[in-house]
Amino acid sequence: MRVLVFGGSGMLGSELLKALYGPGEQVFAPSEGDLDIADEAAVFKCFADFTPEVVVHAAAYTDVDGCETNPHLANRVNVDGTAYIARAAAKVDAAMLYVSTDFVFDGRKRTPYLPDDAPRPLSVYGASKLAGEKQVRGRTERHWIVRTAWLFGAAGRNLVRTVLERADGGRQLEVVDDQVGSPTYARDLAAAIAQVVTTDAWGTWHATNGGSCSWFELAKEALALSGRASAEIKPIPSARLTRPARRPPYSVLANPPGVDTPFASLRPWQEALAAYLEEIGELDGGRERLIRRA
Ligand SMILES: NC(=O)c1ccc[n+]([C@@H]2O[C@H](COP(=O)([O-])OP(=O)(O)OC[C@H]3O[C@@H](n4cnc5c(N)ncnc54)[C@H](OP(=O)(O)O)[C@@H]3O)[C@@H](O)[C@H]2O)c1
Repeated sequence: MRVLVFGGSGMLGSELLKALYGPGEQVFAPSEGDLDIADEAAVFKCFADFTPEVVVHAAAYTDVDGCETNPHLANRVNVDGTAYIARAAAKVDAAMLYVSTDFVFDGRKRTPYLPDDAPRPLSVYGASKLAGEKQVRGRTERHWIVRTAWLFGAAGRNLVRTVLERADGGRQLEVVDDQVGSPTYARDLAAAIAQVVTTDAWGTWHATNGGSCSWFELAKEALALSGRASAEIKPIPSARLTRPARRPPYSVLANPPGVDTPFASLRPWQEALAAYLEEIGELDGGRERLIRRA
């Protein structure tokens, strides 16, 4: 299969490249330096040169607060860039997988969001990703739109890494406890995406590790699993942080019950967190903790 990947240097994208490579697979991943997805001509030329059968689009302007202060760039990359990729995919008859976000929802619900729930983004970032979804739906017939959330992985900045660094630096840890979501290990999601692109399970799916927690609970678990349980950590309300973009207070994602999806089987987030900590050499006593919980 010939697979074109956008965003291959990112937290998810770097795992996607590993998951997609295999015998007989041809994977091409231009970097942002090689190809700006907001450059329409460059996107079309890339498709014409590589003629992919599948395109996996994981490139985005992901700085949520940056999007709020620079909506022009957010729209150029997340909406226009996605539109160009979708049009180019349709032109060469490639199937398209687009990675989207829990931030398309406003978080007023108190039960897990399903793919058909009405989106209502609270931020420029969320609105730009939702507009990207619409471009994909409107321009390609064979597509998978995969909404995920709260990613952590070896190749990028994320809350888990920040918490460990701050704990080691003896810095005070204050983490919000009034936002609830589903943490997701980039490696687990990438493996599931590599599977789904071999199927014809077209449509919009939700894909996260199992279970849910607050950011505070995620940070506490990371400290415990990494042998830093004695680090002082305090829960705070989101209102204490003055950030440009609003975040949904609740953004747990699920798929409709009884529907067969390759994303249903992603392991619980605590197990995925332990695997991530092991990957980055920070798991300490974590296995015993997981066994005790079971
Ligand atoms: N992180 C999360 O918690 C989270 C949650 C939900 C959904 N998502 C979605 O998941 C996907 C992957 O997120 P991530 O956290 O892995 O992102 P990331 O680490 O910020 O990586 C973003 C990628 O996009 C590329 N990129 C940015 N602007 C570009 C442009 N104009 N042209 C070409 N490439 C460009 C970056 O290239 P360079 O490295 O060269 O700049 C990088 O490879 C995104 O669609 C995001 O919206 C993320």
